[in-house]
Amino acid sequence: MHEDIREILVSREQIEKRVKEMALQISVDYKGKCVFFIGVLKGCFLFLSDLAKNAAVDTNVDFMMLSSYSGTASTGVVRTMLDLKQSIEGKHVIIVEDIVDSGLTMNYMMKNLRTRNPESIEVCTLLNKPSCRKVEVPIKYCGFEIPDKFVVGYGLDYNELYRNLPYIGVLKPSAIRLEEKNECK
Ligand code: IMP
Repeated sequence: MHEDIREILVSREQIEKRVKEMALQISVDYKGKCVFFIGVLKGCFLFLSDLAKNAAVDTNVDFMMLSSYSGTASTGVVRTMLDLKQSIEGKHVIIVEDIVDSGLTMNYMMKNLRTRNPESIEVCTLLNKPSCRKVEVPIKYCGFEIPDKFVVGYGLDYNELYRNLPYIGVLKPSAIRLEEKNECK
């Protein structure tokens, strides 16, 4: 285990098993259709790759980058940093996200994407922190519900570190900068 990690919340084995289950469910639900995966950068990069590899459906993949986080606290203001390169008109879209926390990012994203007239649009998130929700988000596929703790690993970062850890872990307080120790702002 990394020296900055206090506790492993979701192990590598649990992630591998659950992602396969989610991919299977998507394969069943979208049988005969082409799924347009939209990954929310950067946190989705490992999850989307494992999900897409295990999904037995035709796929398009594109990415958006939004920003509402700085350090461990959500600023509440969502901005588009990188937009899709392809049209999603008439497509079956699945938004692939690392974690839904306040829900502000996903709410912004769904409103934005709906204006582009997809045939359908669903949310697939590896992690869900329901206790931090500020706006409701309809989540169709959820990997794990976790408590209100700031987590890193498997794509999730703290100040751009720890994304490559193969598990989801909670940082030691000593690894978090003093001014940022409040969670779920
Ligand atoms: P929301 O808009 O508050 O739902 O936040 C969504 C984004 O915040 C996610 O895509 C993550 O990038 C980031 N985020 C939220 N909670 C955590 C966490 O516990 N660890 C790392 N990033 C987080």
